[in-house]
Amino acid sequence: MKPAEFGKRRRQLMRMIGRGGVGVLPAAPARVRSRDVEYPYRQDSDFYYVTGFAEPEAIAVLAPGRPTGEYILFCRERDPERETWDGARTGPEQAVALFGADDAFPIGDVDEILPGILEQAERVYYSMGAHPEFDARLIGWVTTLRHRGSPGTHTPDEFIALDHLLHDLRLYKSRAETAAMRRAAAVTVAAHRRAMACCRPGLYEYEIEAEFLHEFHRHGMRPAYLPIVGSGPNACVLHYSTNGRQMRAGDLLLVDAGCEHDFYAADVTRTYPVSGRFSAEQRAIYEIVLEAHAAALQAVVPGNHWDQPHDAAVAAIARGLRRLGLLDGTLATIRRTASYRRFFMHRTGHWLGMDVHDVGDYKVGEQWRMLEPGMVLTVEPGIYIPPGDRSVPARWRGIGVRIEDDVLVTPTGHEVLTQSLPRDPDAVEALVGSGA
Ligand code: GLY
Ligand code: MN
Ligand code: MN
Repeated sequence: MKPAEFGKRRRQLMRMIGRGGVGVLPAAPARVRSRDVEYPYRQDSDFYYVTGFAEPEAIAVLAPGRPTGEYILFCRERDPERETWDGARTGPEQAVALFGADDAFPIGDVDEILPGILEQAERVYYSMGAHPEFDARLIGWVTTLRHRGSPGTHTPDEFIALDHLLHDLRLYKSRAETAAMRRAAAVTVAAHRRAMACCRPGLYEYEIEAEFLHEFHRHGMRPAYLPIVGSGPNACVLHYSTNGRQMRAGDLLLVDAGCEHDFYAADVTRTYPVSGRFSAEQRAIYEIVLEAHAAALQAVVPGNHWDQPHDAAVAAIARGLRRLGLLDGTLATIRRTASYRRFFMHRTGHWLGMDVHDVGDYKVGEQWRMLEPGMVLTVEPGIYIPPGDRSVPARWRGIGVRIEDDVLVTPTGHEVLTQSLPRDPDAVEALVGSGA
């Protein structure tokens, strides 16, 4: 993404913060996986959205109207010895040139410099609770100011939640953001196609996962979340990620996997028969989920509110399960008592962006939020019949199906970013095993 995109975001955010306010954003801390080994570092989404700076141990400060510089970045100093071990660092000098900071300082100087900036502020904009260790440091700086107590020392009067402002910006995707999401979607679709083509009985779930990892990595991308590769009864475990079972003929395989490109995620699920042919029961359930998916998609238009796609999916699933005799009672009763939740226990989607479950309020006050152009959400209805559910005939037990796509709200309706991945059951059957 170009530096100008980050500059535009900072200007927008600074307009919202206004003079007299100071925004403070910390980088994500590095995290230990085991002893000397760290998890792969991933910058905090809010921090990256504002800075485009991917290194740990950094703090961004936005001080609209500050005469000596509105955007201040604290970051690690250059250190040839450390860089021999851990790789290149930008350093404060380069941070000004490369990342558009008005001023940049070594992170080690923050205790001396930041209290002076906070002292000028009436309002501090900060997202409390996201990084607890940093919460304590910020409170420490403000406390230091209070305790100085010398006449003329000023302390900020208010703490305001920065995330409210920032997350509203993040909810509406710019052209550069939708371009990144299209790219993540394209590679994710290619990976699903590849996995479907090589799927056959006898493989282990992790062998399917390996196809995804190969396809993501050969495009320089990483998974946006732990891939879910659940065959047979594992398809009914919503957050399954063990991916260790050997697949058998007759199983369904549910794969929920997507990659991240330039900090933007794709989130896609397909469900298909391991041997390439749905059983009658599997196809019946699949077709209900597909109807729910189509009904939900139709409801993704500007002017509809957030809950309308879910409501449409619930109606289709309730109707379908009743038709199969898996739910009793009238449609009105099924919906009033939410008895469908035994089989469809999650919502039909979530915002999608830099975070897989992206930020942005789903309600404004008591009301569901209206869908508007530039928002991106998933549409992902599912039906999961627990393997041990003795209240349904045995032939239905252990069937789990989800179909998930990524959808951009446009001025006239919507665009499915992952449209080129087949959903139609015949097309899915034709693809499964075609390259094995
Ligand atoms: N992959 C997580 C989700 O579908 O929400
Ligand atoms: Mn998913
Ligand atoms: Mn999802």
